[in-house]
Amino acid sequence: MNVAGRSTRTIWPEADGVSVGIIDQTRLPHAFATVRMESLADAAHAIRDMLVRGAPLIGATAAWGMWLALRTESGDAALNRAHATLLATRPTAVNLRWALDRVQARLAPLPPSERPDAARALAVEICDEDVALNRAIGAAGLPLLTALAARKPGGEPLNILTHCNAGWLATVDVGTATAPIYAAHDTGLNVHVWVDETRPRNQGASLTAWELLNHGVPHTVIADNAGGHLMQHGRVDVVITGTDRVTAAGDVCNKIGTYLKALAARDNGVPFYVATPSPSIDWTIRDGRREIPIEERSAAEVARITGRLPSGEIAVVELLPPGSPAGNPAFDVTPARLVTGLITERGVCAATEPALASLFPEYAGRTHG
Ligand code: MRU
Repeated sequence: MNVAGRSTRTIWPEADGVSVGIIDQTRLPHAFATVRMESLADAAHAIRDMLVRGAPLIGATAAWGMWLALRTESGDAALNRAHATLLATRPTAVNLRWALDRVQARLAPLPPSERPDAARALAVEICDEDVALNRAIGAAGLPLLTALAARKPGGEPLNILTHCNAGWLATVDVGTATAPIYAAHDTGLNVHVWVDETRPRNQGASLTAWELLNHGVPHTVIADNAGGHLMQHGRVDVVITGTDRVTAAGDVCNKIGTYLKALAARDNGVPFYVATPSPSIDWTIRDGRREIPIEERSAAEVARITGRLPSGEIAVVELLPPGSPAGNPAFDVTPARLVTGLITERGVCAATEPALASLFPEYAGRTHG
């Protein structure tokens, strides 16, 4: 997408041939800063400390991290160490394992001397594929939004609610949940997005709002608790979220708070869709609540908030009485029964095992249990 009029991805190989550039997302929306990753340690730090985040971008960063690791050492031990180091950075998004396993499977049979070039080529391939998948999700979701918009009285915008950031910043480009939204906006559909702020890290307020603003998409940031009220009053036509992992049976793991939105949507008859690129589907599990590891992040993310003072200075302030403990589960699981449909790169399907299997027959055999 464009930043200050310049087409920009979230991750790119630098012209020096030895490093990889990323946007430091911890600085948004107050500053647009880029960082160079030069080593395995840099890539692991970028994922763990959320300079990059969002399931697809985590996978892409891991692929580039493998290249950075293998540039200096490319034997079997180094390959396994790089895989293990990156896999340990964040537990919930399945794209991380998907990308790492894919790189390892491609490189392991090669002689060590050929691995660095092959790793680089695969990282490029994974990034380009991500963009193509997201564009296809946009094309698959556009008719849904067009049909919903056709039911609105003339001139009224289609109100879409989204949670967290599943925009281009969470991917290599285009985004998952935002792909149909950008497609609709770009074709002239009158859309308006309710942006959940998404405490505690505020990916909605800091990232989704910044993206939509830059692309000129009308939007309003709301407190996380406002969605149910807006749905009750007919002010939300559809919810579209992203996902960090979908099970073979259609359970959806996503940023904490997604489940509450799905419950409110069901109670109010609002369709609830999940943009789901196939690398986010974990074909090895069915029961998301029991089988997906939920990342518990630092209590400091709940206890503190970062913002810009009137002076322009960026400051971190404490929110809690000193001594009050805080808990911070980072994701939750929305049962498949609450999901109206999954918007995949191969089309929209029900959140059920047979529907997913018929769309992706080549993976369906991997399920168990
Ligand atoms: O913890 P984060 O910022 O990595 O959260 C992941 C997400 O960006 C969201 O859960 C998103 O909706 C799914 S990723 C497209």
